[in-house]
Amino acid sequence: MAQQEDVFKKIVSHCKEYGFVFPSSEIYDGLGAVYDYGQNGVELKNNIKQYWWQSMVLLHENIVGIDAAIFMHPTTWKASGHVDAFNDPLIDNRDSKKRYRADVLIEDQLAKYDEKIQKEVEKARKRFGEAFDEEQFRTTNARVLEHQQKRDALHERFSKALNDNNLEELRQIILDEGIVCPISGTRNWTEVRQFNLMFKTEVGSTADGASTIYLRPETAQGIFVNYLNVQKTGRMKLPFGIAQIGKAFRNEIVARQFIFRMREFEQMEMQFFVKPGTELDWFQKWKQTRMAWHQALGFGAENYRFHDHDKLAHYANAATDIEFHMPFGFKEVEGIHSRTNFDLSQHAKYSGKKIEYFDPETNESYTPFVIETSIGVDRMFLSVMCHSYCEEQLPNGESRVVLKLPAALAPVKLAVFPLTKKDGLPEKAQEIIKDLRFHFNCKYEEKDQIGKRYRRMDAIGCPYCVTVDQQTMEDNTVTLRDRDTMEQHRVNIADLRSIIEDKVSITSLLKKIDK
Ligand code: GAP
Repeated sequence: MAQQEDVFKKIVSHCKEYGFVFPSSEIYDGLGAVYDYGQNGVELKNNIKQYWWQSMVLLHENIVGIDAAIFMHPTTWKASGHVDAFNDPLIDNRDSKKRYRADVLIEDQLAKYDEKIQKEVEKARKRFGEAFDEEQFRTTNARVLEHQQKRDALHERFSKALNDNNLEELRQIILDEGIVCPISGTRNWTEVRQFNLMFKTEVGSTADGASTIYLRPETAQGIFVNYLNVQKTGRMKLPFGIAQIGKAFRNEIVARQFIFRMREFEQMEMQFFVKPGTELDWFQKWKQTRMAWHQALGFGAENYRFHDHDKLAHYANAATDIEFHMPFGFKEVEGIHSRTNFDLSQHAKYSGKKIEYFDPETNESYTPFVIETSIGVDRMFLSVMCHSYCEEQLPNGESRVVLKLPAALAPVKLAVFPLTKKDGLPEKAQEIIKDLRFHFNCKYEEKDQIGKRYRRMDAIGCPYCVTVDQQTMEDNTVTLRDRDTMEQHRVNIADLRSIIEDKVSITSLLKKIDK
């Protein structure tokens, strides 16, 4: 566990050192849970977004995209339920004056039981060696059973309190479990209160009669309010989808784990409108489609799992998360929800407009049902970074840090180095870049020894490096080095594009999922 935490810390500092992610407004000591993407981060982020967008809009004839405004009419959020119910249960510690999410304190307590169990298992594994039967141990060891029983009881009580929206019971659980404030170490807790996560601001000057509006907490509502516009102007027939990528804002109280939980973040959401009664089939299809999108990155199927929700929002009839194995455990990266006709019906009710679909096959009008796929760009970015970060011992005794990014997502695809800064080598290297830069992102580097330049490119995940040397001037060949194998071979400059382009293009990923 501690080892994993160390790895995570290294990833966070690597992100900063190599221009991927910086704390926002850092010269003023930063702003909690807000981050900026640097020169390499923005390229990686754009590639993730492109992969998602193209998988939706290019590969599906019946999915189109939009780009709705962040500000929306405030009634949108009344209709969607966010004004009344987009809340977190908060609790303050009177001694440290620190504020916490009550549900997160209890979730952390559940994780502590899991850790205790895991420790017993690891101890026994060491003791019994090869003969160790983990399943038998877990089901028979008295200490493990005791921890498990306490964990299950807590989980049941916690789920019930959440379901009943019972804030007093949440507080009582915190007291009964003896949960202390990590800062003050005391149990001097306030009541639990609901706290709305939406940021408010005002449009218009006060003299004009300013009105309160919200920064959108999800992009989805921009799609719902445009359902009629897109369906009519695009003459869309059910089933069809609308995709969107954009910023969302939540006043998260517990902002932890770097870019995992941010106050300003980006979502890639797709609402798929279907005929009522067919939604659960579509839900299953989208589960598979989205899992295939993740797995095409080659991070290993064992690092993903579905987490089906037992507790459904009142408007949903099925929901699941795609979780990824981060250094701090399996965590939600994407949600897939069958949202019935809740959102469209609510907007029809609050706007007084008829929001329906006329089905030419049955001559009926009805409100479509919706399957939503919703993934956070930043969480996806984090999962890619976590899986790609690698510290390697080399046969020559040296070590290197390499980002084994999928080539299609890498910020820089090809680095070109002149071996020395003389004899026309720099000019030749620039000539290669001039030719290839139309096809993929190239970088020129002439500073330091070649070895150091390779290390810098490894650290930003550049899949290919080319070195221009004396021989290049004679026969137009260069050495091409592969990031992962570190193998080098000589190739003709004229062949570089065909060797590299296919491997680094988003198309190479799209082909894997479009079978
Ligand atoms: N429209 C549905 C919706 O917004 P959600 O589960 O609240 O559902 C969807 O969010 C995805 O957005 C999450 O799976 C996560 O990847 C991302 N996300 C949500 N809150 C976030 C935050 N505070 N910081 C970063 N990403 C977040």
